[in-house]
Amino acid sequence: MTLLQPEADRRQNEISDLAFSYLATALQEETGIVLTAVKRELVVSRLSRRLRALDLPDFDAYCDLLAGPDGAVELNEMLLLLTTNVTRFFREPHHLERLRQDILPDLINKARAGERVRIWSAGCSSGEEAYSLAMILLDLCPEARSMDIRILATDIDRNVIEAAKRGLYRFDEHELLADPLIQKYTTPTEAGAFQVNPDVKSIVKFACLNLQKPWPMNGKFDVIFCRNVVIYFAAQTQQHLWPRFANALHEGGHLMIGHSERITGAACAYFKPVGTTHYQLVSRGNAP
Ligand SMILES: C[S@@+](CC[C@H](N)C(=O)[O-])C[C@H]1O[C@@H](n2cnc3c(N)ncnc32)[C@H](O)[C@@H]1O
Repeated sequence: MTLLQPEADRRQNEISDLAFSYLATALQEETGIVLTAVKRELVVSRLSRRLRALDLPDFDAYCDLLAGPDGAVELNEMLLLLTTNVTRFFREPHHLERLRQDILPDLINKARAGERVRIWSAGCSSGEEAYSLAMILLDLCPEARSMDIRILATDIDRNVIEAAKRGLYRFDEHELLADPLIQKYTTPTEAGAFQVNPDVKSIVKFACLNLQKPWPMNGKFDVIFCRNVVIYFAAQTQQHLWPRFANALHEGGHLMIGHSERITGAACAYFKPVGTTHYQLVSRGNAP
């Protein structure tokens, strides 16, 4: 047994071209995420533990599992291991400044007049983005809870959604400790951690949603944040997504995307750039 162990480890840590291509295709079809050849080592390091947990000898056997009757269930487990969930509070603050200065004052007036206001954090990871938006909103409008103004936050990864619902974070970045909104809207717990306060939590709703599948929401959004999500998708997948965001927004609604993402191609007809990676819906045309 001991003598055979190194051979077993080797097989669980090596992936053939065919197996890598099979996994990459399965992941892209389900999520839109593209695994280029440079991600090969990452795939092995993240999935080899899964192989061991399932007692599978190698990646070929893992591909057989994905192709078999329990494949859909395992695909869901695989995507949890392969998504990139890096995020932080108050990330890309130029969007948040625009929200605070220009966008929210009008939306708050709209909500005060009894209208419905919705903001969507699409690909929200563990919730820091959505809670950052909620803290800014409450800071501007402490009575927001009593109005019809809410933030929907969704992600494909059920583990990050569960973490987001808990709203318990560590002070990994020191400057976060001193942030006035963190001080105002969170409570320190054990050393080095804090809990998002219930008033902030009460205006955010977290849910699992795969952006590549149909979206169940009926009403339109005033602002959509989809930042650092489409960067992992193929260009063609991005091109399919922009018109869907156009269709999900109110006319004049705002779309914020990540610092290295751009709206290009036919979708430029729907959106005009109004700031750095900040777009406004000008026409929905015949967006699906
Ligand atoms: C890098 S995080 C970005 C988090 C946050 N928006 C930010 O900018 O800090 C990307 C998130 O997109 C999610 N994601 C990837 N593919 C997705 C899909 N098809 N549908 C929904 N979420 C997806 C991942 O699970 C991950 O949590």
